[in-house]
Amino acid sequence: MKWTRYPADVLPAWVAEMDFDLAEPIKDAVREAIGIGDCGYPNALGLGDAYGAFAGERFGWIPDPRHVFATPDVMTGIVEVIHEVTPHGSGIVINPPVYPPFFYRLQMSGRRVVEAPLRRDAGGRYHLDPAAVDAALAGDGVAAYLLCSPHNPTGRVWSPDDLAAVAEICARRGVFLLVDEIHAPLALPGATHVPFLSLDLDPAVWELRRRTFTFTSASKGWNIPGLKCGLAVAGHDEDARVLAKRWEALLASHIGVVATEAAFRQGGPWLDAVLGQLDENRGLLAKLLASHLPGVGYVPPEASFLAWLDCRDLGLADPAGTFLDAGRVALSPGGDFGEQGRAFVRLNMGTSPALLEEIVRRMGAAVQSVS
Ligand SMILES: Cc1ncc(COP(=O)(O)O)c(C=O)c1O
Repeated sequence: MKWTRYPADVLPAWVAEMDFDLAEPIKDAVREAIGIGDCGYPNALGLGDAYGAFAGERFGWIPDPRHVFATPDVMTGIVEVIHEVTPHGSGIVINPPVYPPFFYRLQMSGRRVVEAPLRRDAGGRYHLDPAAVDAALAGDGVAAYLLCSPHNPTGRVWSPDDLAAVAEICARRGVFLLVDEIHAPLALPGATHVPFLSLDLDPAVWELRRRTFTFTSASKGWNIPGLKCGLAVAGHDEDARVLAKRWEALLASHIGVVATEAAFRQGGPWLDAVLGQLDENRGLLAKLLASHLPGVGYVPPEASFLAWLDCRDLGLADPAGTFLDAGRVALSPGGDFGEQGRAFVRLNMGTSPALLEEIVRRMGAAVQSVS
């Protein structure tokens, strides 16, 4: 999608795909399956152990494999759970600016989006606002909270204290909690991702686990979103029954399951190389912006390959449109992430330093050409 959506002279830096070659263990596993004609329905029974091996090593936490379920992708997992546990017309709280499908997939599912915006400090850093979340969850007919952790597009990795505050509020309000941890494998040096279900919850709020589902995937970390496999992790046996009941709607692609198991079991060295490159790229981006676009605000992400750029001081009505038309570079328009993102753009830096430099050079030239 990334390289074919726009004309050939447009440099794409929008959708969340990286430009890195596929990890060898994933190629081998997929080749082997195809080689023996193994293209039937999936058997995902090994996924829980494969994910546990990865999560144990990276996060010091091993979920009960009986609580881990395959999904076709993260958003389908979220929407199926929402369908099962919340009534039609109920409100779901999200924290804009946030991943655009959080808005439209919930709306398409007949649910109301209730906004509890992140708070932006003077330095441009975003924070969860517990008072706003609490107020939003107190609204009439609000049934669930969908938290993005790490957060797209701001790149924030939430602390154990942030997550404990979320747990306290959700327990008190009696709502369901869904946590999208798709970017977790990509926590960058200096940040520690804490899986929500690994939290040592206060006994007073422990029962929240009965209403908590988390979602993750190898699709961002290992760049395989087209293979269609995500994971849902139930917080409790009761949640596991919800996921088991929806099994037919949650069938992943068999090749996706094969690739995902290979990623979690054997993809560590490849992932480490990517994390090193992204760490370099986020620093390089700061330097490139300082020289080509000094008016743009940027706080380097703590996770993943997405940079959230504050273009308000450029004085452009539609920054992403200007970068596309005048610079031939495709970025994600900030307004897609909610009203709060207007005049921001999201830049995908999951590419080579050379292309990153060309992207920012073109953005700078675009601004020059219209001013
Ligand atoms: C926060 C978040 N959730 C979900 C997705 C989509 O994942 P999937 O393709 O598994 O539905 C993305 C993709 O970029 C994302 O950033």
